[in-house]
Amino acid sequence: MSNPNAIDLAIEKFKTILTEQLSRIETMKQGADWINLDTVSPLIIGICGGDGIGPMISVEAERVLAHCLRDRLAAGTVVFKTIEGLTIENRAAANKAIPDDVLAELKSCHVILKGPTTTPQKGDQWPNIESANVAMRRELDLFGNVRPVRVPEHGIDWTFFRENTEGEYVLGSRGFDVTSDLSVDFKVATEQGTERIVKLAFEHARKTGKKRVTVVTKSNVVKTTDGRFSAVARRMAADYPEITLDEWYIDIMTAKLLDPARRHEFEVVVLPNLYGDIITDEAAQIQGGVGTAGSANIGKRWSMFEAIHGSAPRMVTEGRGGYADPSMIKAAAMLLAHIGHGGLSARLEKAIEICVQFEREVTITGRADGASAKEFTDYLLSWLDRSDLDACYKTYVEATK
Ligand code: IPM
Ligand code: MG
Repeated sequence: MSNPNAIDLAIEKFKTILTEQLSRIETMKQGADWINLDTVSPLIIGICGGDGIGPMISVEAERVLAHCLRDRLAAGTVVFKTIEGLTIENRAAANKAIPDDVLAELKSCHVILKGPTTTPQKGDQWPNIESANVAMRRELDLFGNVRPVRVPEHGIDWTFFRENTEGEYVLGSRGFDVTSDLSVDFKVATEQGTERIVKLAFEHARKTGKKRVTVVTKSNVVKTTDGRFSAVARRMAADYPEITLDEWYIDIMTAKLLDPARRHEFEVVVLPNLYGDIITDEAAQIQGGVGTAGSANIGKRWSMFEAIHGSAPRMVTEGRGGYADPSMIKAAAMLLAHIGHGGLSARLEKAIEICVQFEREVTITGRADGASAKEFTDYLLSWLDRSDLDACYKTYVEATK
């Protein structure tokens, strides 16, 4: 027989959760203004290594960023701030997803370039603390997770807008066992939280001349939260008459990303947190693997840029950490665009494409038979220094047509 108070205890917990969410809604309603990074000086870029392969690839991403921003660094209008302490050891010792001093450091920056962090799982060697990623997205209110995927030879040019502060994730560590037999988790969708991600997606489509936004849900089954997501998207579409909105369910969408007859038609995709997490790994795989994708976590006050893969502790224990793909450099390219250096960002993207897809003189395999992260980065930097970068890129693109 289960505890007769089980339901009352559960109601108490649920009450706390609801109170917190309603207060979060009030904060969203007050609607903080977007920070204008053009007027900030110096612009502080936090570099946060994370753990596992994180510190090894962050060093390389920082080197590339420093190279691209050398003029601003010399002039002192941009400064880098190294943030230590977001390691699993420190987080476990503090028993917190993000120790307080590390959170304060993060908040003292304007934008952050972050290495992967280990997310503990029930039953592993670490206390089962919340994911540092999920916590950072919540604490810095990084509501828009933007993940572009491009495969030019297949006509694929997708940008995913994954909602980043709600869904199943925001209370992912707050579910509980009501009795020894019954476990409950929570999924949250708010009007304000949905509006802001849908708006980010539509504004992006408008700015980049895209004609189609696809909302992905399972609103035929998950009727309330996904139902709201879908309804908000439909309502807001009226403000963007030049853009067509269509809705796909997550299951068939997962299949359609693999359908050569259909997939090149998708342009901008907006979706709740969990579906976005899953489908962006699939999309990245279509592009060449999760190591090839970058991710922007956008909020009104702060933004954070990262790779979409994990910390690969196995690579470190097997002594292969130094051979990890420094794909965080893609995130660095997104960061450059975000702080107003679209030209530098485009140049870096081209150099990456030449190195990874076209010339491929130095390749990463993740093992000692391939290049180290440092060797690959040297190769990339040598391309960034070339005055014929644009011309070579054009030639390569023409040749693949
Ligand atoms: C991602 C990752 C994270 C997520 C993990 C590490 C919590 O998979 O950024 O996609 O699920 O959001
Ligand atoms: Mg993921």
